[in-house]
Amino acid sequence: MIIAIDGPAASGKSTVAKAVARRLGVRHLDTGAMYRAVTWLALERGVSTGDAEALAHMAEENPVSFEYLSDGPIADVVRIAGHDVTTAVRTPDVDANVSAVSAVPAVREALVARQRELADGREVVAEGRDIGTVVFPLAEVKVFLTASAQERARRRRIDLAGQGVEVDEAEVQARLERRDQYDSSREVSPLAAAGDATLLDTTGLTVEQVVDAIEALVEERR
Ligand code: DC
Repeated sequence: MIIAIDGPAASGKSTVAKAVARRLGVRHLDTGAMYRAVTWLALERGVSTGDAEALAHMAEENPVSFEYLSDGPIADVVRIAGHDVTTAVRTPDVDANVSAVSAVPAVREALVARQRELADGREVVAEGRDIGTVVFPLAEVKVFLTASAQERARRRRIDLAGQGVEVDEAEVQARLERRDQYDSSREVSPLAAAGDATLLDTTGLTVEQVVDAIEALVEERR
């Protein structure tokens, strides 16, 4: 079974997808980490985020891999071109460039092919922007998570504060809205809910409540 979880930045996708993976014992596939890994490699190698051809070539030649060291459903390591980029893909530099990289059609083609390969023959809970629409259009369960921009900014600020980074919530909200706007308006695979996805507004819900709702959908389709 494939469980597709899509939604905008900071909608709670990662937290929810990982919690679903743990509860159901199904492998988690973080497709955002793959776009981030390619972006990291471009920055590392000095490849311009405007050079679509070089980016595509790099994405094709350097398949992103995940290592599940503890044998659990959540990957411990994200790797590209031999580098462990698990934490490096979360830097502000990668944040600032990943939308441009993920808007390149041939980069998306390479990563979508890799995502299908990683899920081949197994059950996965995949999170991203185009999972239910493009990557796994036949996924048995499709969920599109939303939350108000204000709520998403609040969550992001709390997350960052947990990492010792203090930020202004209004600024965080403005940045999130800019990234959503970019991800939703790009020509290739824009962020959008699949016609057959279940919309789940998580504003005011706990993670547990959201996971319960997804588990109920899984039970229905099993
Ligand atoms: O989920 P995230 O914030 O780690 O994703 C990073 C970026 O990658 C985000 O700006 C949109 C892009 N992305 C995408 O275009 N398609 C996906 N399936 C996953 C992420």
